[in-house]
Amino acid sequence: MEKRVAVLPGDGIGPEVIESAVKVLEVIGRRFEHTFEMNYGAIGGTAIDTCNNPLPEETVALCEASDAVLLGAVGGPKWDQNPSALRPEKGLLAIRKHFDLFANLRPVKAVPSLLHASPLKEKVAKNVDMLIVRELTGGLYFGEPSRHTEKSAVDTLVYTREEIERIVEKSFELARLRKSKVASVDKANVLESSKLWREVVEEKKKAYPDIEVEHMLVDSTAMKLITNPGAFDVIVTENMFGDILSDEASVITGSLGVLPSASIRADGFGLYEPVHGSAPEIAGLGLANPAAAILSAAMMLRYSFGMNEEAAVIEEAVNTVFEDGFFTADLVEPGKRVLSTKEWTEKVIDEIDTQFVSN
Ligand code: NAD
Ligand code: IPM
Ligand code: MN
Repeated sequence: MEKRVAVLPGDGIGPEVIESAVKVLEVIGRRFEHTFEMNYGAIGGTAIDTCNNPLPEETVALCEASDAVLLGAVGGPKWDQNPSALRPEKGLLAIRKHFDLFANLRPVKAVPSLLHASPLKEKVAKNVDMLIVRELTGGLYFGEPSRHTEKSAVDTLVYTREEIERIVEKSFELARLRKSKVASVDKANVLESSKLWREVVEEKKKAYPDIEVEHMLVDSTAMKLITNPGAFDVIVTENMFGDILSDEASVITGSLGVLPSASIRADGFGLYEPVHGSAPEIAGLGLANPAAAILSAAMMLRYSFGMNEEAAVIEEAVNTVFEDGFFTADLVEPGKRVLSTKEWTEKVIDEIDTQFVSN
């Protein structure tokens, strides 16, 4: 197959982890005889520096001409004092909105060889296997008005029925491929948008009698994610709750550095990016864990290109490298050797090659 991938490395550790993901894609391309045509574009702070725009038009055009987008991360202290329109994060929000990428899938699964790095007891963390389905193009991030003055500030939390319907349906469809359990997370004891959210879930579940649906409030969900994370299958929630809960959930299984994500729309087009940010304090030091970016590339193969076997080869290679005891600094056990971003990536590539030689 021939596929065009728009590669947007972004800021901080973005370029380092994307380099790793691209190398892995190249190996997969060679081994499976696919051509991944990778074209690079600017986004975030880097794009502000070069084009005075966190999402330049050329980048949008490049993504429109591509089959999928692979993104690193945006942001950093250099741009933190910029006016809102010239913040790196605006570029990320704009690309999600432009391409209508309303469904953000963030899988969190315990890997036995990483349990040592979990802040939770092994018996609590070991059965975790959940999928957070975060609404990505609505809610507080996009509602108008949104502004501040010296005296007051306003953000607007607005959801339309249609916006809720499509993400809830998506979560039910995805739950069918798993354990058919959905926790719909809201704050319906306070927020009007959450009341509508609950109504829509109640209505939609009639068409999915096979799905076990539970409504949960976001505050106690945050607590249960720590006390009993193994109880969750699919979590569906609005944009900001999903942002917060997914960072919380990521550390249960070891590190934010291993959590991939897919931001997709109905026709299969998608943007794939790690859940983590640009980690400016470790940028350029070879300390970044590239697993999240590599696994995001695997999600791209699976969700946008239908390359399930190829995705599985990457995921298996990543797991094997962990099982063999090779870790970057964020996951290393005391006394064990730390691999750099590049060294760890080479291990994954060697492992993919080994899988082919032994088959
Ligand atoms: P962050 O995710 O960048 O970092 C949080 C912590 O996790 C830091 O200690 C960092 O060193 C560590 N970490 C993150 N990714 C890692 C990796 N791959 N390997 C090893 N350690 C890793 O969050 P933050 O520090 O709150 O934000 C930094 C910047 O990133 C901000 O400008 C923020 O807006 C931006 N951000 C961007 C995205 C994105 O582009 N999708 C996501 C989150 C934050
Ligand atoms: C994420 C990030 C972004 C978000 C920021 C950088 C805009 O935290 O992708 O999780 O809040 O969606
Ligand atoms: Mn986030």
